[in-house]
Amino acid sequence: MSETNGSSNGALLEVSHVKQYFPVKSGVLVDRTVANVHAVNDVTFTLREGETLGLVGESGCGKTTLSRTVLKLLDATDGTIRFRGMDITRINRRAMRPLRREMQMVFQDPFASLNPRKRIGQILGTPLKQRGLSGGAIDKEARRLLDVVGLMPEHVNRFPHEFSGGQRQRIGIARALAMEPKLIVLDEPVSALDVSIQAQIINLLEDLQDEFALTYLFVAHDLSVVRHVSDRIAVMYLGKIMELSPAAELYSKPIHPYTDALLSAIPIPDPRENRARERVVVGGEPPNPIDPPPGCVFHTRCPRATEVCREVVPPLTQYANEHMAACHHPLNVTPEEIAAATFSDASPADAGDAKPDYVPAGGNGAPPPRPVADQAD
Ligand SMILES: Nc1ncnc2c1ncn2[C@@H]1O[C@H](COP(=O)(O)OP(=O)(O)OP(=O)(O)O)[C@@H](O)[C@H]1O
Ligand code: SF4
Ligand SMILES: [Mg+2]
Repeated sequence: MSETNGSSNGALLEVSHVKQYFPVKSGVLVDRTVANVHAVNDVTFTLREGETLGLVGESGCGKTTLSRTVLKLLDATDGTIRFRGMDITRINRRAMRPLRREMQMVFQDPFASLNPRKRIGQILGTPLKQRGLSGGAIDKEARRLLDVVGLMPEHVNRFPHEFSGGQRQRIGIARALAMEPKLIVLDEPVSALDVSIQAQIINLLEDLQDEFALTYLFVAHDLSVVRHVSDRIAVMYLGKIMELSPAAELYSKPIHPYTDALLSAIPIPDPRENRARERVVVGGEPPNPIDPPPGCVFHTRCPRATEVCREVVPPLTQYANEHMAACHHPLNVTPEEIAAATFSDASPADAGDAKPDYVPAGGNGAPPPRPVADQAD
């Protein structure tokens, strides 16, 4: 294990070619591994100190598995995870314990993630004890934390069922803060809440980030939730990163057809604008992660897919402005931008190395959209 006080490049977390495969077992007397669920399949990204990286993709694409793997709640099948420059991929529980405090998670379901038989003071007391507090200091700190997340200090005496969904999520956030973390993984923290409450929780998270210099990995299944909170956004599909870009640019200039399809699924408040917008409909379901398709994993649903997409894994191509996308026939880029683009080291190990093709806007000379019936290869 190499150990430093911090990474040289300002990165808090560096995830390099990480895989998480879940074995599928079969057999009567002896369990044999007959296949693997490729839940996370060669993912590379960096999380800089103080930033929010949005992680977006459909249900089952591997967001939670990736989150749990980078927090070492699951051991990675392959790849490297560095936290503050330190390789934590294979360190044991004991060595991990002091670091565990610095890496916390807030879960999607504020109802399921709090023990219904414990008072809030006890729920917050557990991490505060681990932090080394005792006696009256625990009670004092628990009350302070409730105040920080917008609840009443006297709520320490209540049980979880006495709170609304939004309030319970505030308690979940207070529990994460109790450890004085540097990194918080927020796994769909507002998906279970009413829209009006979602905005309050997102505002709270933004305020806390400024106050405590927190770094967030913010997981969501649609692009509307992460739009205003993220500095950068990674789009994930079937265990792989399809596109990673500064947040504003992802919405104004999506390069990957899957991102384009996710964007066109977001309703626009103005109904006229909504009707006028060209919708990109992606038919069908994602393929089974036990047997991911060859080439580009999105090719079975992509309207722009051609032969090369079915055979060659697209590399992550690095465009200007830290914008990366894994597509042989990218959208919204000029021939000059493609010429200036480079192969990214974040590309999966089995990716090809050819540059993407230029496809003119409007489809002139573009790979023709395939009929829907053709798309299930
Ligand atoms: N412990 C496990 N054993 C086997 N397969 C698993 C396990 N955990 C997750 N998977 C599978 O791994 C894939 C990724 O699941 P994951 O929960 O990470 O997706 P997700 O993007 O978080 O989805 P959602 O948006 O529904 O929360 C899915 O196919 C899932 O069925
Ligand atoms: S590589 Fe091909 S199949 Fe994959 S997203 Fe690009 S055009 Fe579609
Ligand atoms: Mg999930």
